[in-house]
Amino acid sequence: MKVPYNYLPFEFNNKSTKSIFNEWKKLIKTSDFTLGSFVKQFEEKFAKYIGGKYCIATNNGTDALILSLKAAGISKDDEVITVTNSFYATTGAIVAVGAKPIFVDCDERYQINVEEIKKVFTKKTKAILPVHWGGASPNMEAINKIAKRRGLIVIEDACMGIGAKIHGKSPGTFGLVGAYSMHPLKSLNVMGDGGMVVTNNQSIYKWMLKYRNHGMVDRDNIDFWGVNYRIQPLQAIVAMDCLKRLDKVIKIRNKNAKFYDSHLKNLKPFIEIPKRPKGYMETYALYMVLCKKRDQLQEFLKKNKIECKVHYPIPLHLQKASKQYGYRKGMFPIAEDQAKKLLTIPVHQFLNQRQLNYVINCIKKFYN
Ligand SMILES: Cc1ncc(COP(=O)(O)O)c(C=O)c1O
Repeated sequence: MKVPYNYLPFEFNNKSTKSIFNEWKKLIKTSDFTLGSFVKQFEEKFAKYIGGKYCIATNNGTDALILSLKAAGISKDDEVITVTNSFYATTGAIVAVGAKPIFVDCDERYQINVEEIKKVFTKKTKAILPVHWGGASPNMEAINKIAKRRGLIVIEDACMGIGAKIHGKSPGTFGLVGAYSMHPLKSLNVMGDGGMVVTNNQSIYKWMLKYRNHGMVDRDNIDFWGVNYRIQPLQAIVAMDCLKRLDKVIKIRNKNAKFYDSHLKNLKPFIEIPKRPKGYMETYALYMVLCKKRDQLQEFLKKNKIECKVHYPIPLHLQKASKQYGYRKGMFPIAEDQAKKLLTIPVHQFLNQRQLNYVINCIKKFYN
């Protein structure tokens, strides 16, 4: 039996493709190809879904992060505290605005370690950039408290967090700005790249709106020098279609994850599942567990046609690109240990019960 990690071949079935094509036909008739009414419609729908006041759709999640940092006034010589176990874009965005990433370790839930944040403040610290890693969330209330005490800005990397909730509130709505991604393997995905920023701050919103579109006031007038971070209207249409199904997708992923949890918890000490605190709903963008003999297990599962991934084998502070900052092996022991043990198992909404059983049986067989 095959258990693919990539679910995109099943994602756009005939029914959804038909409705997307119908909307694309309308777009073609209007030739609203740069921003326009479809993009606006999507931004309004997403802001409503996420529970924020203002949304701006961008090219991708990386641009959304850069736009957020720029809007918050982060620039040269500023320090931004972030976590060492994330996707490259979190750090790349900090560096892109000229600031310095200050890494901290993660915790047992693979989220930024809140206690560690307190140890790395300097006079140059301007912001904290927590990540909703894997579609789970760090303790945003605690992070906000720390930031408030120190007068720091919080910008959220909620790229994997669309559809998650912390006590009923969405990732990306705790800080000044939240950045989201619609990369094909995210909970809300398009047929390519897409991203969003969400904020409740009107002046920041207005600045971002202009910066995304060259700093233009109108066709002939530029307020300040900006860039082109505009989303493609074709993708905004795909996003609106997928948004209709998002809650269902999250529900199925949660059901699958619960099934895995219920079986894998019996495989301790070979497998360790993270704590799932009450009130935290995950998207399961990634279903990750710590495994003994991870690489051998991954190989065994591969031989049995179960496709797993590792997110990621090298933490950000140990990447060659981070050498300039003087980080060394051993500085963030939890993230470094997890990098050797974490395995991401397919949990997507297109798996059937037979496939889920097969995954569990194969893992059991390996440890037996
Ligand atoms: C945590 C995190 N941050 C940022 C990004 C960047 O998003 P994108 O690929 O849309 O630029 C991603 C996803 O790719 C991500 O997982």
